Amino acid sequence: MNLVVLGASGACGKHLVALAAKRGHQVTAVARVSSKLEVPPGVKVDRGDLTSVEFLRGVVKGQDAVLSGLGLRMGGLAPWNKPEDATFLTRSTRALVEAMKAEGVRRAVVISAGGVGDSFQQMPGFFRALIKLTSLKTAYAQLFDMEQQLLASGLDVCIARPTGLTDGPATGKVVVATAFKGRATISRADVAGWMLAQLEHEVFPQRAPMITVTGAA
Ligand SMILES: NC(=O)c1ccc[n+]([C@@H]2O[C@H](COP(=O)([O-])OP(=O)(O)OC[C@H]3O[C@@H](n4cnc5c(N)ncnc54)[C@H](OP(=O)(O)O)[C@@H]3O)[C@@H](O)[C@H]2O)c1
Repeated sequence: MNLVVLGASGACGKHLVALAAKRGHQVTAVARVSSKLEVPPGVKVDRGDLTSVEFLRGVVKGQDAVLSGLGLRMGGLAPWNKPEDATFLTRSTRALVEAMKAEGVRRAVVISAGGVGDSFQQMPGFFRALIKLTSLKTAYAQLFDMEQQLLASGLDVCIARPTGLTDGPATGKVVVATAFKGRATISRADVAGWMLAQLEHEVFPQRAPMITVTGAA
């Protein structure tokens, strides 16, 4: 497949690029001009403004699907620091939807987070408090807006809602969870593997599942 990875400089984005290339897809890695970005041989790189419809039209043209590891960059260690650009996901999602529609690209698999939208009530109480009381509030509001725009777009979208991300190895033991006991985590490598696997389904089995490796009740 021809696959474009938005946020290719991010910790999940890097895994998406590497894994998609390893599996023989034609990959275009996309990041803003200032991003630190290294890609495996054979991967095309495109840099520009991720909130520009014009730039994104050029990026998605001719692609079979969009994979996104975009999120809010926090100004320091989350969840206590403010995001660098508090409305980035609202603007980038709006531009992406318009660009995909204009270029006739229908499929996208993106990263949100466990606890966004209707999954909030399924999170443990302490985590719900973190979302309400820390700068995660801004990030979660942005992820919610991103989800709502994508779900309302009429495009064929799958929104991964991972639990706590780690840099551990891929386990291939990802499960869809609706309740938790203990510490819920998933490695970025597993998130990338799960996202790519969704593209093998002609119709996405779930629109916005919570995914985890540990901690599912
Ligand atoms: N941390 C967790 O435990 C956790 C749990 C569940 C879900 N999540 C979600 O998963 C997402 C991905 O995680 P991650 O660890 O891969 O995040 P990350 O390393 O911070 O990657 C975020 C990506 O978004 C890009 N980005 C952010 N602001 C941008 C802007 N204004 N313009 C252009 N690109 C921008 C970054 O580009 P640059 O490299 O140029 O900054 C980077 O490529 C997080 O953002 C979060 O929403 C996180």
